[in-house]
Formats: sequence, C-alpha cells, structure tokens
Amino acid sequence: MAIRKIELYPSEVLRERAKEVEKFDDEFNKLVDDMIETMKSANGAGLAGNQVGVPLRILVVDLGALQEKEDIRVYVNPELVSKEGERLESEGCLSFPQIFVEVKRPKKIKIRAFNREGKLFEEEGEDFFSKALCHEMDHLDGVLMIDHLSPIKKELAKRKIKKMIKEGLWKDPYPQK
Ligand code: NI
Repeated sequence: MAIRKIELYPSEVLRERAKEVEKFDDEFNKLVDDMIETMKSANGAGLAGNQVGVPLRILVVDLGALQEKEDIRVYVNPELVSKEGERLESEGCLSFPQIFVEVKRPKKIKIRAFNREGKLFEEEGEDFFSKALCHEMDHLDGVLMIDHLSPIKKELAKRKIKKMIKEGLWKDPYPQK
C-alpha cells in the first residue's frame, strides 16, 4: 500500500467527471487500498478517486470518523436512489486544507453502489452518512463544496484560498510517507 498525493483545489482533475469502474482487477484493488491508506494518513472522513488524481468513480469513507472508531466503507459507481429532508452543517474537504463551509445536504439518502468485490448493493442512512456520501459523490461529478455556496460566500472562500496560496500556506498538509 502507498499513500498518494492529494490533489488540492484548483487542480483540474477535481473538475473532471470521473468514469465508471469496469474492472475489479488487481490495479483497482491497489487503488482502493491506497485510497484508504491516504484517507487515514490525512485523518480524513472521505476521499474520492479524483482527489488522488484518478478520475474513476470510487469513494472511500470512514463512517466512524465522528465516534473515533474506524468504519471504512468502499463505494464504486455510486448512484443516489432517493433523498429526504435537509440539513445545514459545516464541512471540510481534504482538497481544501483548513477551509470549512456550511453546506445544505439531504437529511437522509438511499444509494446504490458496487462493493469492492463487484457486487451491487443498496444502503440508506442519515446525517453524517448523507453528508459524507453526498460530498464524495459530488467529487465524482467534478462538483466541490464551495459550489454550494451563495455567490458572495463562494467569492469570500476563493479570496481566502488565494491569500493562503500567496502566503505559501496552500500546500499538501498530508505528506506522502
Ligand atoms: Ni472533498
């Protein structure tokens, strides 16, 4: 397993629509293992393929992140089946070091995805599950958390990032080992 470089905004690969996984082969398995390792080393709660520079529809999520126990799940070619309600909460992203924004997400969702063995399954959940999965599924369509902000708030976030870039603070805080 290896820790991969996390792409930071405004890396172009973060704006790509990731492609469907078609083969659950050794290369795929290595990528999934590396994504899990990379997410863990960065203390993240989720990571999408685009974020390690591989635009494939793969997500790894640690659903135990809030309880400080590990509950790592893998979702391949995920699709939203249904959503319910709304919930506004602060969120962060490994591609936006030290930036937190308030984003409205569904309260509850149901999704359909393949597991890493290539078996299709459905899963539903609310609150953290919904927030994490919606955030990560957005990545696969090239959508970022700042895209959910009002134009003014988005501009403020972009300015803050520009300032951080200028000051040399916008760098990979998760060095590869
Ligand atoms: Ni993210």
